[in-house]
Order: sequence, then C-alpha cells, then structure tokens
Amino acid sequence: MHKQTIRDIDLTGKRVFLRVDYNVQFDDGQILDDMRLRESVPTIRALQEAGAKIIACSHRGRPAGRVVEELRNAPVAEHLGKLLGQEVKAIRTCVGPEAEAAVAAMQPGDVILLENVRFHAEEEDNDPEFGRQLASLADIFVCDAFGTAHRAHASVVGVAQHLPAVAGLLMERELEYLGKVAEEPKRPFAIILGGAKIADKIAILENLAHHADLICVGGGIANTFLKAQGIDVGASLVENDRIDDAFEVMRIAAQRDDLRLIIPTDVVIADPGGERVNTVSVHRVPPGFRILDIGRQTIEDMREALQDMNTVVWNGPLGFFEREPFDRGTIEIARILAFLPHAITVVGGGETAAAVQRAGVADRISHVSTGGGASLEMLQGIELPGVAVLLDK
Ligand code: 3PG
Repeated sequence: MHKQTIRDIDLTGKRVFLRVDYNVQFDDGQILDDMRLRESVPTIRALQEAGAKIIACSHRGRPAGRVVEELRNAPVAEHLGKLLGQEVKAIRTCVGPEAEAAVAAMQPGDVILLENVRFHAEEEDNDPEFGRQLASLADIFVCDAFGTAHRAHASVVGVAQHLPAVAGLLMERELEYLGKVAEEPKRPFAIILGGAKIADKIAILENLAHHADLICVGGGIANTFLKAQGIDVGASLVENDRIDDAFEVMRIAAQRDDLRLIIPTDVVIADPGGERVNTVSVHRVPPGFRILDIGRQTIEDMREALQDMNTVVWNGPLGFFEREPFDRGTIEIARILAFLPHAITVVGGGETAAAVQRAGVADRISHVSTGGGASLEMLQGIELPGVAVLLDK
C-alpha cells in the first residue's frame, strides 16, 4: 500500500475530517444494510484511541444540491451511535457557524456527523471555496469513503488541497485487496462476472484477462455470450450491440490454452408470466421464455474449476437474484467461494455483497468490498481520484 494511513500520522488530540460513505437506505425508519457503517467503526475507534475529535461527513442518495428531508443524515447518526455505544450528534449543516460551533464544543473521542453533503450543489462541482470551508473545520483529513473514491467531489478531493490527507483502515483494506487483484493476483486466478450489462465488465476483462486462468460468466451478460455462439436465447435479456465484445473474449480464450472460459451450458428459464420454471440445456430455450439463472450442471462445472484457484474475484449476480428461485445460482456460487481450500476471495459490487450476506458466508470471504462503482473502476485499472489525493508513503 503506497498511500499513508492513520498509522503514519500523529493524531493526538487532532480534529479529524473523516469522509465516510454512509450512502445507505432506510425503510420505515430501519436501516436496510449497515455494512458500510460497521466497516467504518475500526477507524473511528483508532481515532478515538488517539484522542481525536471526529467530524464525520457523508452523502446519501443524489439530492442534486437541494435539501431532501428523507435523505437527511440524522437516522444514520442514530444508528452509528448504537454501533459505537455513544451519542453521535447529527449536525443540520456542513459548513458555517452551526458546524463551527458544534466542532468547537467537541471533546476528545466525540463523534459528530455533518448533514448530507450533497445538499450543497458545491459538493459535486468540487467547488474550491466549499472544499476550503469543509477543511477549515479540521486539522487532518482521513478518507475512509472507498465507495465514493471514484467521485472527484469537494469532500473527497477538495478537502485534501488544504489538509494532510491519509487513508482510514477501511480504505487501506479495500486498496490492499482490490489493488492486489487488479495488479498482481496470485495465480491460478479466476474472474466470475455476472450482472445485467456487459459494458463495465468488458473493461474489467480487458484489464484482468491477461492474468486470468479461469473466467466464469453468468447473469444477463452470459446471454450475450450465448447469442454470440449462435444460440437462440428466446426472450432473454441480450445486449445486441455488445455481441462483438463477447465474441472477442471468446476468441482470446480460444487462443490461450491456459485460459478456461465457462459459459452456462444449462439454465433456469421461465415463461413470460414467470409461472412455468424449468432447467434446460442452453440449446432448448423455447420462444418467449427468458433465462433467469444458471443451471445445476453449470454450477457444478464452476465449482470444480474453482477448486484449484489461489485468487478469485467476483462481481455481479449470476441470475435474477432479486427473485426466488432465480437467486439459487448466485447463492450457490457464494457458498462455493466461501469453502474454497486456499483462495483469496474478493467480492465487489452492492448486489454481490448482498448475495454473500444472504448466503450467510460474508465472514468466510477474504474481502467483501463496500464499493459498487468504485470497486468496478479499480478492477478496470482506473486510478480513483479520492485515492490519488492521499499522501504517498
Ligand atoms: C455508492 O453507493 O456507490 C457510492 O456512495 C457512490 O454514490 P453515487 O453513485 O451516487 O456517487
């Protein structure tokens, strides 16, 4: 890890501007998934041990520079307070006298959470004056918002123009695991790609395929591979304008003796009403039916091929994960990864992270990334602006 972290800097008694990614959803006052909050706790604890005052800052949703009542940070502060076992004061602004007064009243170890920073249009514009005002609240900038590090916004990159900027412990772990996978994975190395759209995944393949020994595809993108093989996929989701991309991946795999590409050979299909559900060979998808999951034989082929791997990276569900029984392939793959004998396993993307949680195996995966778009960009080999601004070691 070539960036400085909170281990490299004196934090004693300092006011810390802590950018976190608490972009989480609530339903009826209940947080739906608090992984991003839980994963930030070790950094907060470490800052508290140094006697720092913690001024946390996050966005929620895309309010586009307006105050949206449902996107206030107050319920997030309340939930964080429960996780920490202490009050976390929610401040109703990010800059100006109210924020300054709240910071002036803080004691070492206190945590406050500023209001949703995207209520200010200046945030997404990376307005220099807004960045300066945010920075004026603190002595040090700690960035733990890996999930937002692909956004060049004021609270992510602007603040770093004014304060020493270092990574928090979550950011450090994300960069270690995803960096290793993106740069020098321990081989044999497998990539499992699912999800609906092939576009982002092609860029990942372009960056990683030369290290890969195994590529498994599922989900909507597999349909495009099947169609590129001349297979009739009925009414399944297909990106017709991406068939050439799929063809190119198959051509590269065919040229390399040491690279195995697994495309589904059997699939779970449903009629338009979703009532008649069946598992069939990919060559037997009736007109009007849609492919909604990978089949048993494909799962077994993937299981067998994955056993020898030393590194596995997985992004994107392998079927229509939101609806039972089409979540089965995704859940099975999560379980297979969890019990691989010696692989480092890295899972990225919101739905894939949710899948390993639903399968009950999140704690058996080496690293479950808190980043959606950010983890995709890292796997594509793109340097994230929120990482670039951190001090080098
Ligand atoms: C995320 O949830 O992926 C991050 O918080 C970034 O959110 P954004 O896509 O609205 O910038």
